[in-house]
Amino acid sequence: MADALGTIRTSALDAIGAARSSAELEEVRVRYLGRKGELTRILRSLGELPEERRPEAGKAANELRRELQEAIDSRSAALRAQEAGASLAAEALDVTLPGRWHPLGRRHPLTLIADELKAIFIGLGYEVVEGRDVEYYKYNFEVLNYPHEHPAMDEQDSFYVTDDILLRTHTSAVQVREMEKRTPPFRVCTWGRCFRREAVSARASHTFHHFEAFVVDEGISFADLKGTLILLARELFGPDTQVRLRPDFFPFTEPSAEYSVTCLLCKGKGCTLCKYTGLLEVGGCGLIHPNVLRAGGIDPEKYSGWAFGLGTDRLAMLRYGIDDIRLFMENDVRFLHQF
Ligand code: DAH
Repeated sequence: MADALGTIRTSALDAIGAARSSAELEEVRVRYLGRKGELTRILRSLGELPEERRPEAGKAANELRRELQEAIDSRSAALRAQEAGASLAAEALDVTLPGRWHPLGRRHPLTLIADELKAIFIGLGYEVVEGRDVEYYKYNFEVLNYPHEHPAMDEQDSFYVTDDILLRTHTSAVQVREMEKRTPPFRVCTWGRCFRREAVSARASHTFHHFEAFVVDEGISFADLKGTLILLARELFGPDTQVRLRPDFFPFTEPSAEYSVTCLLCKGKGCTLCKYTGLLEVGGCGLIHPNVLRAGGIDPEKYSGWAFGLGTDRLAMLRYGIDDIRLFMENDVRFLHQF
């Protein structure tokens, strides 16, 4: 018995010392201390010994088990420390390597202007809605009270997809769509692309952008429109900005007006930009025509509203000193990187 324990002790301690990894060490543990291990087998067979030899043999076997377990534990700690070190070494970072360059995008100047306009109107309690670039003739012209022979609807002025579908020519096409979905009072604004058959030049493009806002409620008057336009002009161009409204005509508003602001460049003194008028025309506006309200399912006897639309390409050109509208559509990053 003592001999057997002595042999196990020597070979087990050798094997523990020789284990090169946690996995190898585990194999050694199983070989000696596992359920069918060599020492376990001896511990199980103690019952077969004559009664008087059992206590002494049991004590020796148990002591050996404790000794081997301790040896395994300490070897295991050493191996695990080694293994952790090795995986750290494998994961080591070379902090002297140059970084990887990720090209950054830039926000388009038109997006910057649109976000500024939206922020002003969100601050006034307006809802921002999305319109459609491709629109029915009905929403772009018909419900907006265009007389049937109006020249704006000509093939020469609009891009038609089919007889009754076209690329929208203005964001006013959003008005009746929104009226159909809502009951007054409501305040809505929208921004997006518009398209017209224009000869392309530094000042005109077939693709341009409108910002549009409209309000429908009981008792809305021209004074509400004027107040909003003055506030908008001052938020956008500074507190000294003046606004001029002059009578104009749009089929979908009555009365209608053209909307100008103090020239940004000369502050109203007169320069080549404003053609010595001191003012820059920015958009159109008016009280929503009763026929338009009716087309949107709103009773014009009970409700009234105002609307305005402005071209944001021109605003962005003025704001950022851009002298060619075509640059907006080219998406050249060298251009975009300047804003
Ligand atoms: N849609 C007009 C245009 O194409 C601009 C405009 C004028 C919008 C008057 C409006 C408005 O909402 O009330 O030039």
